Amino acid sequence: MYKTIRGTKDILPEEALLWQEAESRARRIFAVYGYKEIRTPLLEEAELFNRSLGETTEIVQKQMFLIKRDSDTIALRPEGTASVVRAWLENHLDKQEHFSKLYYLGPMFRAERPQKGRLRQFHHIGCEAIGSLSAELDVEVISLLNRILGEIGVKDFELRINSLGCAEDKKRLSAALKKSLKGQLKELCEDCVERYQRNVLRILDCKKTECKEAVGKLDILDSYLCEECGSHFKSVLEGLSSSGIPYKMSNQLVRGLDYYTRTVFEATSDKLGSQDALAAGGRYDMLIKELGGDTEGAVGFALGVERAMLSMDGGLKIPQHQLQAYIIPLSRNARQACLNTLQALRNNNIISDMDYENRSLKANMRKANDIGARFALLVGDDEISNKSVAIKDMLSGTQESVAVDNLQRILKDKLGS
Ligand code: HAM
Repeated sequence: MYKTIRGTKDILPEEALLWQEAESRARRIFAVYGYKEIRTPLLEEAELFNRSLGETTEIVQKQMFLIKRDSDTIALRPEGTASVVRAWLENHLDKQEHFSKLYYLGPMFRAERPQKGRLRQFHHIGCEAIGSLSAELDVEVISLLNRILGEIGVKDFELRINSLGCAEDKKRLSAALKKSLKGQLKELCEDCVERYQRNVLRILDCKKTECKEAVGKLDILDSYLCEECGSHFKSVLEGLSSSGIPYKMSNQLVRGLDYYTRTVFEATSDKLGSQDALAAGGRYDMLIKELGGDTEGAVGFALGVERAMLSMDGGLKIPQHQLQAYIIPLSRNARQACLNTLQALRNNNIISDMDYENRSLKANMRKANDIGARFALLVGDDEISNKSVAIKDMLSGTQESVAVDNLQRILKDKLGS
């Protein structure tokens, strides 16, 4: 028997209903906030991610699923931001719209070690607002995340926020960190010793206890922010407060992707164990230029759907699509008449189905009960010659015979539709 690949998972029909509901609620809220959907390919040139996320990031170093074809190296997209910016530039939305608010839903791929809440194929609900440096937009994006999480039933989460400042500020912070961590390299995990050389900022959000302790002892002030970045961050925080969005400042939040500048944020849930990030995002003001455009300013987030599902409080209410009529042929001869009735009911949008397994009447009644059909429709030789159908009410157990010509009307009346 074949099995799913490690770190991937089937979403079976019951669960898929939950997904549909979460996705449709998210789409509705995106529309309310003026975001339009964009769909980009799952395959992109690997170089796009090397360039956008940074050569030294964990994703690029270790986690990309790569496909080599001739001289091309193609990647299964590990995230959506780089693809959306690529699409925005390639399709000249930068020239046509200058400022765009886009959202996306879909699978992402990272070759991580699978564990609870950490998959190799997982799904993002995300958005990117491209073409503005305004702090008001950071507030909008965070409030949008807040609203979507609430709308899909995730109530209990914490929003952490920080500002990395501009490229110069990030350099200043890295230099300060290198200086303060120099004497403590022995206390860090193996990965962080490497990070010290390549990407020292990442040490700040290492999840290992020894590194957390070492970092905890540091006196990292937010004084690395230049005046402009400091005032941008202040505006973001004031905007959040006046919108009534609770947040916690965290100067250890740096995020694992190089494109971030200024505001970064993460929503975490204690229902998730060690993989506690539900959603994350921030500004990436320089990425458009990095990818060949001439605009500055962009901000977005991505929410991990699997993790959101693990953190739902009380779950989502799924609209029920109860089977309204289950048709049971009582003889071979009756099958064609049943098929005709089935088609007529479906043309009238009555949720209906029929026995395709030639079960006995008893087995079919059991099945109608098991699948929760509201009515069973019985058609045998007598019904064909009388041009009638027997309707059995599966709740009350009563049965009546009605003329085929009146079936639709009577059923609709009974169903109240
Ligand atoms: P990210 O933090 O890499 O950010 O991913 C966002 C969210 O995706 C995480 O908070 C988590 O919920 C989920 N996630 C990440 N990796 C996995 C995994 N292996 N298994 C299950 N869930 C996972 C980004 O991807 C950025 N593109 C977000 C962004 C958008 N920044 C600006 N715009």
